[in-house]
Amino acid sequence: MDGTCDEIDDPRIMKHLLTVEQLSGPEIAEIFKLAREFKKGRGKAKQKQPLKGQTWALIFNKASTRTRVSFEVGIRELGGSSLYLSTNDIQMGRGETVADTARVLSRYIHGVVIRTYAQSDVEQFAEAGTIPVINALTDDEHPCQILADLFTLVEKRGTLKGKKVVFFGDGACNVCNSWLFGAAKTDMEIWVAAPKQFQPGKEWVKRAGGNIHVTEDVSLAAKNADVLYTDVWVSMGKEAEAVDRLKILAPYQVNAALLKQAKPGVLVMHCLPAYIGKEITADVFQAHQKTIFDQAENRLHVQKAIITLLAK
Ligand code: CP
Ligand code: NVA
Repeated sequence: MDGTCDEIDDPRIMKHLLTVEQLSGPEIAEIFKLAREFKKGRGKAKQKQPLKGQTWALIFNKASTRTRVSFEVGIRELGGSSLYLSTNDIQMGRGETVADTARVLSRYIHGVVIRTYAQSDVEQFAEAGTIPVINALTDDEHPCQILADLFTLVEKRGTLKGKKVVFFGDGACNVCNSWLFGAAKTDMEIWVAAPKQFQPGKEWVKRAGGNIHVTEDVSLAAKNADVLYTDVWVSMGKEAEAVDRLKILAPYQVNAALLKQAKPGVLVMHCLPAYIGKEITADVFQAHQKTIFDQAENRLHVQKAIITLLAK
């Protein structure tokens, strides 16, 4: 699957988006096809309104700028209404079960976007409820981010098959996990350059099953790379480990010296938020800001495509 296919007759009907692992090649291609249409048609009169009369809830248990705003704007542009529910404000924050919350909300609303800690929470919600569930980031995965990243790469490089992407830094985080699956589904070669304690778990590498290389050697990883990717060193929920993480991950910074070892014209990507001077230097961030903010913009188009495919 090279992500460029425009001729999808019968993609499997998605019920939820909980992980990149469960997506088929045709589903990814269909998401990209619709995202392209939404991007091209944004602001024009005849926009699809598949959510007309629908209300979708955003249940967030962690902070967010891009995900929250792009989902709220996207739902509105698709003709629906959104309801932002911080877990501090609903009974789930006081111990009501995920399953009961899912059963109740399924009587009122048409879909739910969840950002939380445990992957099992989004799975339980999907199991107990009767509405589509979108994973908007858990400790394990960030599927919407990786789909937007892959879409951005297709826009910039046309085909994904055989391209080498290297993830630097916290290789045991949600973004890297979803990248392992995303690279495998699109026939990309993925390298993870990380210190031993921040390398992807063996079970993730096995489950993803693609062309995956894990190393502590940043030069070897960067060699001949088409894409250098990084994420924050201190993910949400890991704040207590901040001091150690900043020290241990310092050699994995994306900087000018690293770029010199990659392919000329290498793309630098970052899911944001960025911590300048930590995982990426100011000069590299500045020079590659077009790609990085295209990634952020594409969250909107790609998520509108995902919702459209999930909406009943
Ligand atoms: N990249 C991303 O998910 O950003 P937010 O945490 O701001 O949503
Ligand atoms: N790995 C980061 C991603 C932020 C979008 C986190 O979980 O905080």
